[in-house]
Amino acid sequence: MSESMGNWRRDCRCGEVNEKHLGKELTLMGWCHKQRDLGGLIFITLRDISGEVQIVIDDDSPAEAREKAATVRGEFVIACRGVLRRRQDENPDMKTGAFELHASELRIFSKAKTPPFYIEENIDVKESLRLENRYLDLRRPDMQRKLMARHRITKIVRDFFDSQGFLDIETPTLIKSTPEGARDYLVPSRIYPGKFFALPQSPQIFKQLLMLGGYDKYMQIARCYRDEDLRADRQPEFTQIDIEMSFIGEDDVMDVNERFLAYLMKEFHGYNLELPLERMSWHEAMSRFGSDKPDLRFGMEIQDASDLAAATEFKVFTSALEEGGMVAYIAVPGGNDMSRRELDDLNAYLQSNTAAKGMAWASLVDCELKGSIRKFIDEDFMRSCLRRADEDDTAQLLFVSDSDPNTCLEILGALRNEVARRRNMIDQQAYRFCWITEFPLFEWDEEDKRYVSMHHPFTAPLEADFELLDTDPAAVRSRSYDIVLNGTELGGGSIRIHEQDLQKKIFSLLGFSEEEYQHRFGFLLDAFQYGVPPHGGLAYGLDRLVMLLIGEDNIREVIAFPKVQNSSCLMTKAPSAVSDEQLAELGIKL
Ligand code: AMO
Repeated sequence: MSESMGNWRRDCRCGEVNEKHLGKELTLMGWCHKQRDLGGLIFITLRDISGEVQIVIDDDSPAEAREKAATVRGEFVIACRGVLRRRQDENPDMKTGAFELHASELRIFSKAKTPPFYIEENIDVKESLRLENRYLDLRRPDMQRKLMARHRITKIVRDFFDSQGFLDIETPTLIKSTPEGARDYLVPSRIYPGKFFALPQSPQIFKQLLMLGGYDKYMQIARCYRDEDLRADRQPEFTQIDIEMSFIGEDDVMDVNERFLAYLMKEFHGYNLELPLERMSWHEAMSRFGSDKPDLRFGMEIQDASDLAAATEFKVFTSALEEGGMVAYIAVPGGNDMSRRELDDLNAYLQSNTAAKGMAWASLVDCELKGSIRKFIDEDFMRSCLRRADEDDTAQLLFVSDSDPNTCLEILGALRNEVARRRNMIDQQAYRFCWITEFPLFEWDEEDKRYVSMHHPFTAPLEADFELLDTDPAAVRSRSYDIVLNGTELGGGSIRIHEQDLQKKIFSLLGFSEEEYQHRFGFLLDAFQYGVPPHGGLAYGLDRLVMLLIGEDNIREVIAFPKVQNSSCLMTKAPSAVSDEQLAELGIKL
């Protein structure tokens, strides 16, 4: 039989036991981490979220306590009452290692089966086993530290925005389907058979409507839902730190967010973030780093070699150039010692992970040309390339060409990251934030044969590019900005359109007929008739932010109950079938 709390009250947590409790009677509660029975002398390590403490039951303890203690096993939930005394053999590895509770009474609240894995730090078990038994996994101290870090970060976020006058306002999560790029999760309506709510991909439209409502500084820690393919930094349901402001421009949004990031880094890490943060346009980021989320912790910027390559006889290069393409390279510092194997491996990596058909390489070893394209180039070519990259003879040059310049840059961007990772060129202690601005407003979707928004349809075009909306939509830049940390997109936002006509025009350019956009976004367009303040904002991925700040590389590690790759929950087995009655009520036939 399990016992209940009765009139017992916990005096403190296990890890909080200290000098001032010495000689006093204490009641402690927690999980038995370990029980050692030395015959007559029983040690129990009692554990809770704050840490561990040693409990001793010996000949001086009453028989009832001794008998109960002998039955206690790992993960039993128990309470121990007794006097705290100093330990003879102090354990310096334990925070409470100087003390032990000499138990005179014990209660067993709950027995436990042997868990499928050790409740300890850094266990080496399959993640699926951890997730199937997440409630056990959550007991492990490293998981508890991660969720405590998440709590602290969330608190810092709320404190900061509160101090700046932002109001925390909740927006609905049963909304009209207004897809923002990903697929919506739909919820059938019982009262309106055949009709559906959607779960929000973000609070975007509602936060804009709050600006119309006069709440000029809004923030929310908001749950968002996107039915998209998962990656290490994506979940189908995730959390945003969502912000919107009125009567502002890009600089205002960036300014308050830079101060937020500096405050966060200081409070959470004691790290002094130097402001202002670096800014670069999307175009610059693509041409220097081949990515709209450049990792600035290392150099190896991309160099254009199209002019030099045009003069060679290397067909791969010249034909790419003839098709309007590009030849570019990165120079790997000190890389002229890269083995053939290393280079082949990189080449294979590119072929399986990017659109690259292949990579070419060249280096100078003792003034002699080496590498896959040595027959097509001369020392002058080599030296020009080295000079452009500001490198000496010890560098290895890795070339990529493609008939599409952007593809060429993206391949080199991926190569740059991979080389840095493989050659340990990344300073793991560094936090390199930067803003990427002026993303193209539209992207051409080859599958649908139409333009799609690079951010979302509410992003304002750059005024200087207004005319291009009619003549060359692909060239229109937007008033958008992403915040990037160490090569990961932490957040993004924009200044919004606040005029009905312009918003309608953008919907049309996105291929919506008037009927379609009225059906989907009519309420927003209607609202735009009643006085709209210029506004804009941004949203961070909270999960990603926590993940990066604590140095995790998987988003699941900072979410209490995450989903796995196929968007299911291993513990509850959701999604699951529902009863015929439930389906009938919703008017759904499968
Ligand atoms: P965006 O779609 O760029 O912008 O999202 C903002 C940030 O949310 C995080 N994020 C995700 N995190 C985990 N799993 C996902 N599936 C996921 N998708 C996005 C990223 C991303 O930078 N409404 C706009 C913001 C705005 O314009 O104000 C929006 O949602 O860190």
